[in-house]
Amino acid sequence: MNICVIGTGYVGLVTGACFAEFGVQVICADVDAEKIARLERGEVPIYEPGLEDLVERNVRQGRLTFTTDTAEAVNASLVVFVAVPTPPQEDGSTDLSAVEAVAREVGRSMDGYKVIVNKSTVPVGTAAKVKGWIQEELAARSRSTRFSVASNPEFLREGAAIGDFMRPDRVVIGTDDEEATAILKSLYRPLYLIETPVVLTNVVTAELTKYAANAFLATKISFINEFANLCERVGADVHDISRGIGLDKRIGSKFLHPGPGFGGSCFPKDTRSVAHFGREYGEGLEIVDAVIRVNERQHQRMVEKITAVLDGDLRDKTVGVLGLSFKPETDDMRESPAAVIIRGMLEGGAKVQAYDPEAMVEASKLLPEIALCDDAYGASKDADALVIVTEWNQFRMLDLERVRGLLRQPVIVDLRNIYEPGPMSRAGFTYVCVGR
Ligand SMILES: NC(=O)c1ccc[n+]([C@@H]2O[C@H](COP(=O)([O-])OP(=O)(O)OC[C@H]3O[C@@H](n4cnc5c(N)ncnc54)[C@H](O)[C@@H]3O)[C@@H](O)[C@H]2O)c1
Repeated sequence: MNICVIGTGYVGLVTGACFAEFGVQVICADVDAEKIARLERGEVPIYEPGLEDLVERNVRQGRLTFTTDTAEAVNASLVVFVAVPTPPQEDGSTDLSAVEAVAREVGRSMDGYKVIVNKSTVPVGTAAKVKGWIQEELAARSRSTRFSVASNPEFLREGAAIGDFMRPDRVVIGTDDEEATAILKSLYRPLYLIETPVVLTNVVTAELTKYAANAFLATKISFINEFANLCERVGADVHDISRGIGLDKRIGSKFLHPGPGFGGSCFPKDTRSVAHFGREYGEGLEIVDAVIRVNERQHQRMVEKITAVLDGDLRDKTVGVLGLSFKPETDDMRESPAAVIIRGMLEGGAKVQAYDPEAMVEASKLLPEIALCDDAYGASKDADALVIVTEWNQFRMLDLERVRGLLRQPVIVDLRNIYEPGPMSRAGFTYVCVGR
């Protein structure tokens, strides 16, 4: 089977490379000519563990190619995956302009039956819009080519994307016709062989399932963060609470880790989007609204925590920051809590010097006001406090004696709770964490 993936970013490139690995013939298309040129030279433009090898192997073995010509990719393919950005707009709604551009391009170029599959996270009703945009373009060419539009939301996590794609907890396929169902089932056959559960449903249900998943996970995070804040008041330990409730199988232990609040390219925008279209359909989602509010407040609380340990005043203070990406094992800084917290500290008058193992290029574009250091020790040098914002493994075993010698005063604010309060204070640090 020949397929194409339109949009060669975190989702599109992983999708393309993984299907190629399953033996499918894949063309990845993108409007970003520089990105395609780099891929053609064998460079992977993003940091995602394992992706470079996977791309290299499948290119070498002739199953994976790249193009800037969407029309050519569409025409060579039976299945067209759409994996373009769906960023948030000011009011929380979703900007569908890239999805529309792709749909119209498909309508302008398509010359035979295709299944167009939305992998981008899109509000309920988008598949119907995609159908309409394609039909308009076909009508403009006086064509009546048959096609199906399906929804196949993606649940992969950046940093673990290949494993998540190859061995997912489940695959959700939403279609409104049997032909598309049969084609997508055969495309995902390698996953049937490893007994991956497949949820076959209609298109709107698949679209909404993605938002329900992300809203629920975000809820768990805001929930434990609220309890972490209460723990700080009453002297309880939120880690023991996470264990104490997470061992209950009805609750589950994942996503109960307290921290600076969620960020990234998905949870913030997807919670705002579902809250927005829920209201538009006359069904406001009060829990999701609260989750968003709690999360924004949590980012702010982190700035307050840092300010408090620096005598309530950030002016003329230098703060070292470890970790800038929104989570470890990615270079993605979209809606990273680190960026929000750093902006808060800059507004308070602090100077910031930071280090991240993979996100330095992104950081230099997003936060030109801060100094970027060569490593964790560079970020500690002459700082009034060291703040751990993203829990990269290399920050878990710092040479603490060296850090203490480099800091102007021995203050560590650990927003991911990767160290233990007792040993840290015995090591001579003023140690602040979350909910302990
Ligand atoms: N990143 C994730 O972890 C993740 C997980 C699940 C779902 N999603 C969803 O997947 C979608 C893509 O996310 P991403 O993180 O891969 O985005 P991304 O920004 O990394 O990649 C999108 C790519 O699409 C390209 N593009 C934009 N307009 C185009 C057009 N008209 N034609 C061809 N290419 C075009 C861009 O140049 C870019 O390379 C979003 O809807 C997102 O919500 C993302």
